This record gives sequence, C-alpha cells and structure tokens, in this order.
Amino acid sequence: MTNILEVDKLNAGYGKSHILFDVSLNVEDGTICAILGPNGSGKSTVLKTIFGLTTVYSGSIKFKGNNITGMEPYKIARLGIAYLPQVDSVYLNLNVRENLMMSGYILEKNEIEERIKYVEEIFPVLKEYRDRKVYTLSGGERQILVMAMALIRQPSLMMFDEPTAHLAPKIANQIFEKIKELNKSHGITVVLVEQNVKRALEESDTAYLLVSGKVNYYGPSKELMANEKFGKLFLGL
Ligand SMILES: Nc1ncnc2c1ncn2[C@@H]1O[C@H](COP(=O)(O)OP(=O)(O)OP(=O)(O)O)[C@@H](O)[C@H]1O
Ligand SMILES: [Mg+2]
Repeated sequence: MTNILEVDKLNAGYGKSHILFDVSLNVEDGTICAILGPNGSGKSTVLKTIFGLTTVYSGSIKFKGNNITGMEPYKIARLGIAYLPQVDSVYLNLNVRENLMMSGYILEKNEIEERIKYVEEIFPVLKEYRDRKVYTLSGGERQILVMAMALIRQPSLMMFDEPTAHLAPKIANQIFEKIKELNKSHGITVVLVEQNVKRALEESDTAYLLVSGKVNYYGPSKELMANEKFGKLFLGL
C-alpha cells in the first residue's frame, strides 16, 4: 500500500491571502478520496495548490514520491495528474472531436487517434456526438467530455472539483458511475471534491473534512458516515 499523493503541513493561498493552514493529506494508490466541507472552506484551493496554481508558503506536496511543490502546472500534468476544475473547461464552439484533439495536443498524431478511440470506448456517447458543437451538449454530456479530455493524457491521478454540480440526480449518478469505473477498471486514483456529501462518502474510500482551511477530520468514509455529529451537521440526519 503506497501513497500516490502526500501533502504535508501545507500552508498556501493567493498572494498574501492565506487560505490553507497546515493541511496534510494522503491518498493511497488506487483509491477514491473525498474532500468535503462548507462553501469557502478551501476545497478548490487544495486541488489548485496540488496542481501548482496558488502560492505555497510552507509544507510539501509529493506525487509518486517526487516533490512537486511549486512546480508549474504543465509539468505536473505531464507527470500524470489531471485537474478537472469547477468551471466548464471545454471549447464551446468546437465539436466534440476537436475538443478531444485540443487536449491531446502534446501527443503524436497517431497516438492521439489511439487515445480518442480509447476514450470513445469508455464514453460511447462521445463517438455518437463526435461532430456536434459542444454548446449543443447537455451539462452531463459536457462533464463527460471534460473527463474524456483529461483521460486522453492517461493520468494516474484525477482530481475532480464538483463534477456533478448543477446536474440532475439521474445524470449525476451516471457521472459517479463513470468515476467509479475509471477507478476500478482503469486503476486511476481519484480525489473528489463534492457538495453531495452523502453520495461522496458512499463512493469514496477515505474522506477529509475541511473547515476554514484546516483539516477538521479525516479517515475512512464509512466512519464519517456513521459519525453522528457529522451526520447532523452535513447530512441532515
Ligand atoms: N483567486 C482567488 N483569489 C483570492 N482568494 C480566493 C481566490 N479563490 C478563492 N479565494 C478564497 O479562498 C477561500 C477558499 O475558497 P475555495 O474556492 O477554495 O473554497 P471551496 O471550499 O472550494 O468553496 P465552494 O464550496 O464554494 O466551491 C475563500 O475565502 C475564497 O474567497
Ligand atoms: Mg470550490
């Protein structure tokens, strides 16, 4: 059992605005780790910091044992981390296929074709809609495209920021199923920021609860689900 990601006593923020305080977080290879917490608690900032998009004051981030603290995002991406931000990151005026090609631009041409076939097998809807402009797709279909665009680069760790936000429950379920499939069948480790706390706990192996930029709790998701105080606070039980 090895940790693919090790975050140790991280202090980080935006310029002088200190947001994360001594955040430590370990993600075991092949697992799903949920990051939960109220609005503004720093969940997105954790993902952005791992991906090299904020200012780190102290602490360290290791990926597969290598120190990536302060590394540029494109280098972090090349090492095998995919970051799927909260906002839509697709090109609306391009079609599905063109979007997939854009995200594979660092690859050789024949390699791109191979990888597009690979993601079309996982997400058949993208094959069906390959020539459709992305602005004609539904929210759920766009989220699938975002996942496929990240997969093109064959990451070993995928970090999702609220992948089911604004989606109908049925569509959100499909996204959760796909995330599980990526984890179970393709061996991809997942860090998942979710506002659907109950579902996130059901789908994850471990969970971290952030409050005001600090880790308030961490442990097996099952334990958090059974925790009465937590249930009252976040699950409405
Ligand atoms: N680019 C930025 N510059 C300065 N402060 C920021 C920036 N982005 C976020 N913040 C601040 O950092 C804090 C944590 O924000 P963050 O987006 O990480 O929270 P979150 O837990 O993801 O919230 P939500 O559940 O609403 O997505 C907030 O106080 C926010 O105002
Ligand atoms: Mg956020």
